Amino acid sequence: MKKLAILTSGGDAPGMNPAIRAVARTAIFYNVEVVGVRYGFKGLIEKDFFEMKRSSVADIIQRGGTALFSARCEEFLSREGREKAYQNMREEGIDSLVVIGGDGSLHGVQKINQESEISAVGIPATIDNDLSCTDYTIGVDTAMNTILDAINKIRDTATSHERTFVIECMGRDSGYLALMTGLAGGAEFILVPEIDFTPQEVTNRIVQGFNKGKLHSLILIAEGVKAPFVDLSGYNGSPGLAMGDLIREKTGMETRVTILGHLQRGGSPTATDRIIASRMGAKAVDMLIEGHRDIMINYKDNSIGSCKIADAIVEAQQIDMDIYNLASILSM
Ligand code: F6P
Repeated sequence: MKKLAILTSGGDAPGMNPAIRAVARTAIFYNVEVVGVRYGFKGLIEKDFFEMKRSSVADIIQRGGTALFSARCEEFLSREGREKAYQNMREEGIDSLVVIGGDGSLHGVQKINQESEISAVGIPATIDNDLSCTDYTIGVDTAMNTILDAINKIRDTATSHERTFVIECMGRDSGYLALMTGLAGGAEFILVPEIDFTPQEVTNRIVQGFNKGKLHSLILIAEGVKAPFVDLSGYNGSPGLAMGDLIREKTGMETRVTILGHLQRGGSPTATDRIIASRMGAKAVDMLIEGHRDIMINYKDNSIGSCKIADAIVEAQQIDMDIYNLASILSM
């Protein structure tokens, strides 16, 4: 490997910066030239390149977001667009690429390996933690802590007013964030797209809780929950708003809805995100130096390794039913 490019793509995630830093500094340590690409795959097509030195990644380890910026790029979905990207990399002498991002970004990595001689490796980074072949994606720990902080604050006001709160969190089609933060935050009910439920079960649980003397009820709902479990018509795609109205209507209880939104994507990365990002970044460079391509760096059974890209994007992670059942028992 002579010249390595780095980019971040798709939705940003806290911990992308420590990952960029680790990739750049490990490569420089091995005397590999490093090129930063701004705005993800769009930057490859538009040749938005710059030389990276050790100092280029100074003072970013503690910052949320991505110092390389990110974008979603329609043009990269076409063969023509991708050919422009390959040509730009060839002109620049780039032989290897590290892509830091989620599912969509990994599809891009797969295409690059299939269609060009450039060796591309993915590092999983998304707050959704929705990839196969890895227990962990960079950003999920910070997002969970952000959500937990919000749950704690909402719990204070919910108790003061003896209210029910519906808290909608991100995750795209995955219920991971809602499940884990629901367990950690002591939610009364956790609603995720992977598990069927009836609105009746939810309202019964709320009423039973108040009858037992609970001072509030917290319902965690993943943004990916949809019909037939919740009727979203008229709610602009928000299952939280729909569930809030339904609870109000069926129980007559004072109910408020909080949609956490993009604040879940920001913030200084936690120690866990920084450590895993640093280790994954270094591993990506090691694997490229060893001649590997078309792989994603992963975290499995407490160690950093790798898997084929095709295996990482094949199907979404399943929800852990043991955790779901545990959360349910503990919140009764
Ligand atoms: O994939 C990360 C994520 O934050 C999802 O949880 C969410 O559905 C989506 O990105 C939001 O995307 P955007 O920032 O483009 O609105």
